[in-house]
Amino acid sequence: MASVEDIGIDLGSSNVLICERGKGIVLNEPAVLAVNHDTRNIISIGHEAYQMIGREPAGISVVRPLQRGTIQDFDMLSILLNYFVMRVVGKHLFNRPRALLSVSATANEIEKRQLILGMLEAGARRTQLIERPLAAAMGAGIPINEVSGRMVADIGGATTDIAVISSGEIMARSIQESAGDQVTDAIIRYIRLKHNLLIGWRTAEDVKSAIGSVDPEDQNDLSLPVAGRNLVSGLPRQVDVTSVEIVEAVEEPLRLLVEGFHSVIERIPAELANDVFDDGIVLTGGGANLRGLSTVLQREMQIPVYVAEHPQECIALGCGLALERPGEYQRILGDARKRR
Ligand SMILES: Nc1ncnc2c1ncn2[C@@H]1O[C@H](COP(=O)(O)OP(=O)(O)OP(=O)(O)O)[C@@H](O)[C@H]1O
Ligand SMILES: [Mg+2]
Repeated sequence: MASVEDIGIDLGSSNVLICERGKGIVLNEPAVLAVNHDTRNIISIGHEAYQMIGREPAGISVVRPLQRGTIQDFDMLSILLNYFVMRVVGKHLFNRPRALLSVSATANEIEKRQLILGMLEAGARRTQLIERPLAAAMGAGIPINEVSGRMVADIGGATTDIAVISSGEIMARSIQESAGDQVTDAIIRYIRLKHNLLIGWRTAEDVKSAIGSVDPEDQNDLSLPVAGRNLVSGLPRQVDVTSVEIVEAVEEPLRLLVEGFHSVIERIPAELANDVFDDGIVLTGGGANLRGLSTVLQREMQIPVYVAEHPQECIALGCGLALERPGEYQRILGDARKRR
């Protein structure tokens, strides 16, 4: 096996992405594990486990170790991270790569330290941490070392991380719980109430990606047949769901998200606010793909809003960039643990 270059990892609540220096994204898998609840044996991890959601055989459950903004199951999170890192790194006794890890803001210091130690076992030579907004901004092509304030919002599954960055530092930050998962939950609730139809999580995620929109002025009304279980008859049934309905379904999580943006804008010093008004806000994270989101945010805040290219990959790509230019970014990297 050829030697592996240094790796950047985005350990998200929905997905884990790994970027290899010089190669780009080499892994992008759902952050889920299928586990036997009696023996705690792992049945599968990533894509394979995701396919089981809603179809779990008896005795098996699909676990998402990071959910709703907190670490639900730290042991499972470590296993998941190790498995993916080992898959990319392989068994190298020499040429072990350095790693740059971006973890959930909800991880505490002890958990971060344990994750770093686990990385040694998984084959990394040395692991450093990077703050998520800095990695997201770099991956979105924002020059973070400039004095001018730049606002980046990473909309993931469990959290929306909004930050203003200037001179390589986070000057203001707010972590909101309104993100992709809440949008998905709202879609499930709406279809249950309006159509008496119980749909699964994966189906709701597919509806959101295929026809989801948050913009009431969006003229492009799409429709999708959606299958679930009728709550009255108990039988499988299919209904057509439209994007106009999704706009209505997600009003509440959208309102909370807009409020989150306002709360950050209101707190930043005037000079930085001026910069943000000039340069606009850049959205990263998978949630930035939600149709109409940048338009609505722009309309609500009267500030230009842009979606980064490949938004879901920005954090991992940003980690990769920081590894490529260590001199330039050394001071923004956190806790380093080195095997001696
Ligand atoms: N095309 C799309 N339209 C709407 N939402 C999408 C689309 N693609 C992905 N998403 C949503 O993006 C979210 C996942 O984004 P991402 O992979 O950035 O999250 P994460 O990094 O794992 O989570 P977090 O940053 O909160 O830990 C999910 O809620 C998913 O439904
Ligand atoms: Mg993320």
